[in-house]
Amino acid sequence: MTVRKATDVFSEWALRDRDEGMEEGHAKSVNDMLKMVIPKFTSPFSVIDVGCGNGWVCRYLESIENCYKAVGVDGSKEMILKAKIKGDGEFHLAQLPFWKPSIKFDLIHSMEFLYYLHDPFEMLKIFYEEWLKPGGILIAGIDHYSENTISLGWPKALNVNMSTFSENEWRKAMLDAGFIDVKIQRVGIKEGFVGTLAMLGQKLN
Ligand SMILES: C[S@@+](CC[C@H](N)C(=O)[O-])C[C@H]1O[C@@H](n2cnc3c(N)ncnc32)[C@H](O)[C@@H]1O
Repeated sequence: MTVRKATDVFSEWALRDRDEGMEEGHAKSVNDMLKMVIPKFTSPFSVIDVGCGNGWVCRYLESIENCYKAVGVDGSKEMILKAKIKGDGEFHLAQLPFWKPSIKFDLIHSMEFLYYLHDPFEMLKIFYEEWLKPGGILIAGIDHYSENTISLGWPKALNVNMSTFSENEWRKAMLDAGFIDVKIQRVGIKEGFVGTLAMLGQKLN
């Protein structure tokens, strides 16, 4: 059977309201990830959420006093349709890595998106070089990685491409992309779940 496009699968999920369960399931990890970065912004900041799904993280970020711009991008038509219905934020329908924003951001956030790409390490380089302002920060979380053994069956179960790497490989990829002050940390740990692998890095000023 031909491998399916992740964005088609997630459009089906959106039509069946499975984005809501995902929002609930990811909330603890996203909360921990945002706690790692939001306090670093003492002046107004802009943010883009990559693989934003129904836009729930953008809507939360918009409510933070210091956040003057929150943008979402996702390749699923149905997810972006939902994001636009649920709020009046700026959302783009686009297949990555074949799109780039017209402005650079202080913060890039991403939850459960990177490993759907065939070359996520190249995406990290693009984020660094083309999407972030000098001194900007990337925080990205993934649940599919080598050490999370329960996730290793997901590509077959969903019939979707997933790029599988270990914690050390992700750390090296962040450094190779140019990021400094790289932190790789497990967050959102709960019973029966080894945690979301959160990667944090900063672009040189
Ligand atoms: C697991 S969902 C996570 C959604 C959201 N971040 C959340 O936590 O609820 C992954 C999202 O990434 C999007 N996605 C996957 N591959 C993509 C690609 N190549 N370009 C754009 N979006 C993509 C999917 O459409 C989906 O909405």
